[in-house]
Amino acid sequence: MDYRKAEPFKIKMVEPIKLISKEEREQKIIEAGYNQFALKAEDIYIDLLTDSGTGAMSDRQWAGIMMGDESYAGSRSFYNLEKSVHDIIGYKYFVPTHQGRGAENVLFPLLIHNKGDYVLGNMHFDTTKAHIELKGGVAVNLVIEDAFDTEKEHPFKGNFDLVALENFINGKGADKCAFIIVTITCNSAGGQPVSMENIKAVKKIADKYSLKIVFDSARFAENAYFIKKRENGYENKSITEIIKEMFEYGDMITMSAKKDGIVNMGGLIAIKEDEKIYEQVRSMVVPIEGFPTYGGMSGRDMEALAVGLREVVEEDYLEYRIDQIEYLGQRLIDVGIPIQRPVGGHAVFVDCKKFCPQIPFNQFPAQAVCVELYKEAGVRGVEIGSFLLGRDPETGENLESPMEFLRLTIPRRVYTNRHMDVVADALIEIWKRRDMLKGFEFTYEPEVLRHFTAKLKSVR
Ligand code: F0G
Repeated sequence: MDYRKAEPFKIKMVEPIKLISKEEREQKIIEAGYNQFALKAEDIYIDLLTDSGTGAMSDRQWAGIMMGDESYAGSRSFYNLEKSVHDIIGYKYFVPTHQGRGAENVLFPLLIHNKGDYVLGNMHFDTTKAHIELKGGVAVNLVIEDAFDTEKEHPFKGNFDLVALENFINGKGADKCAFIIVTITCNSAGGQPVSMENIKAVKKIADKYSLKIVFDSARFAENAYFIKKRENGYENKSITEIIKEMFEYGDMITMSAKKDGIVNMGGLIAIKEDEKIYEQVRSMVVPIEGFPTYGGMSGRDMEALAVGLREVVEEDYLEYRIDQIEYLGQRLIDVGIPIQRPVGGHAVFVDCKKFCPQIPFNQFPAQAVCVELYKEAGVRGVEIGSFLLGRDPETGENLESPMEFLRLTIPRRVYTNRHMDVVADALIEIWKRRDMLKGFEFTYEPEVLRHFTAKLKSVR
């Protein structure tokens, strides 16, 4: 028995959850048009929709909530948060925002100067891509090919393809490239980390072509932990040393604090030293998010974030966090269920192209497994595949996603490994009858962001 592997916390407050009957679940998912976004949270037993804003705060964070200073300008909580950001991230300037996409909305227009300019990323998250496109930019994914081969074991599947990155810049011209965005960890590729070596090499290329680097840093601490565990030369460095080194290679940060900030709402922009950009950010944040010392966050939430940022870099916490995802992933691997390997930072990504190959991409194989999982055990996951991707705006045809994932996203400090067992047991049951699974077709399809509001029916 390895006692170090138990949760590094004890539970002080609980929130009851209930498993409604199988008949009720079948009824609820029909009423929801087979779309898990339309389910009521109270009809869900274990909710693995997202790790965003769903974490459990610590007693110290709740104490911070009581101490929050709600002053409109110059709040004490702002200065406490500034100190945490400075100590952990190391950048000179920072502005709070209401969440990650708020940060993107303020920063990106200041960096994309011309319509059609390219933003080069390993793999953009949806809102990041959307904000780039809203500002007239074009988001380009340049992640390594290995990321698309779910069976291939590669320690850093979030890495940039450096040759592709440099070829792209040379091909289009550096003046057509707005900036480089490094997403840590790379959510869309399966919560996969980016190595320090790769970040350093991206920085070298950025310097060669005078391009700025922005980190999309929602899961920055998880990325640092993977570097410590998987990259030579980092095993004896502290998590904060690794974080500081990562960010040293960049110029700016956008952060959704709802993940590694372990708060329910919040975000930020940090700027290493560029005073001019900081001044622009500070002026733009006022009409969009709020006065620069609150930027869309209440004082109490800034106080909770100031504490959360310090807790997330604790190694005991990160060990527990990554172990839990690994635990769920390993249970699935043990019976041969195909998942993105190695297991990533915040979720287990089930490869549904391989899980139910009989379902074509335009009948959404991962949605089929997702619906079945709710019916089986009241567990809510999320489809990250062709259902999410949508249609080609020119031809109106369904686009085919390179990967059809069911994402089982684990909230921070919320569920125990016993909950993970329920999820694994349920998925193993479905795996046994996978040949029977059928795809879906639309009964209602909205024009934009269909994933959230579409209604479906089973293909007969
Ligand atoms: N960047 C990444 C890598 C993200 O995963 C997210 C959100 C955002 C930016 C946007 O941040 O939600 O605070 O506005 N990801 C969530 C998810 C929604 O479920 O993966 P936000």
